[in-house]
Amino acid sequence: MSDDWNMPSGELMKGKRGIVMGVANQNSIAWGIAKQLAAQGAEIAFTYQGESLERRVRPLVESIGMDFMIPADVTDDESMDAAFAAVKEKWGKIDFLVHSIAFAGKDELQGSMVANTTREGFRRAMDISVYSFIDCSRRASEMMPDGGSIICMTYLGAERTVPSYNVMGVAKAALEASTRYAARDLGKQGIRVNAISAGAMRTLSLAGIRGGKSLMGTGREWSLLKEDTKMEGVAGAALYLLSDLGQSIAGEVMHVDAGFHVVGVPDTPEE
Ligand SMILES: NC(=O)c1ccc[n+]([C@@H]2O[C@H](COP(=O)([O-])OP(=O)(O)OC[C@H]3O[C@@H](n4cnc5c(N)ncnc54)[C@H](O)[C@@H]3O)[C@@H](O)[C@H]2O)c1
Repeated sequence: MSDDWNMPSGELMKGKRGIVMGVANQNSIAWGIAKQLAAQGAEIAFTYQGESLERRVRPLVESIGMDFMIPADVTDDESMDAAFAAVKEKWGKIDFLVHSIAFAGKDELQGSMVANTTREGFRRAMDISVYSFIDCSRRASEMMPDGGSIICMTYLGAERTVPSYNVMGVAKAALEASTRYAARDLGKQGIRVNAISAGAMRTLSLAGIRGGKSLMGTGREWSLLKEDTKMEGVAGAALYLLSDLGQSIAGEVMHVDAGFHVVGVPDTPEE
């Protein structure tokens, strides 16, 4: 996959500042979203998981003329304190937050969910993929005195069973519930919280799931549009939710998956 996405430019995000969490490389969904936000005039602070990723992330960030990068490991309170303090010090307040972070161990993302989910694996998946969103929402909201918009990334495995997705499906269900509760709490402050449920896309995270690639093939075969979920579509939905276009939308899980989620039975040869 390449970085030659066609992201329309404009001024929908002009004057808005925010944090994008979860760029690991040029295929990351967070990177697609960041490029679209930047093309519409947003100023972005990028957090990345740790020093080892900086080498890959820095050239991307610089390629769009930005340089505000902060390491942040969501499992480490000190690292999170430092990251949000750095943004507060530089900007004082923000308008948006993109949470595009998840993790489960390889052993958990294969075979039987019942047999392969350890207590430690469950705890880790929930901590990194769900608690971090609650934590980031709290931290971000404290810097949103004028309201704002927060999004996270989820997948159909929260609603239906998907082979090998296992504990991550359980975590995504909790993430979607967390989105609704955070939207309820923060709505009073004019902060909208929503989730995007993307179809399978070729990223590092997908590679961690046994048989992950075949999820993309099934997406092409079963989806209404008969195609892969496009980064432009996911980034466009993020732009919509994070800009003023998305006003009045809160607590929503928006599917951007070429219509895959509405299919109960795939096309039959007789059709
Ligand atoms: N790729 C897909 O098919 C797909 C579909 C729907 C939803 N999603 C979701 O999109 C989001 C982004 O995933 P992606 O597909 O772009 O893959 P990715 O691997 O590019 O992104 C995952 C990110 O999580 C970060 N991360 C993991 N542990 C962390 C920690 N302890 N602290 C800080 N960051 C940490 C990684 O550094 C990485 O940047 C995830 O929530 C994923 O579940 C992906």
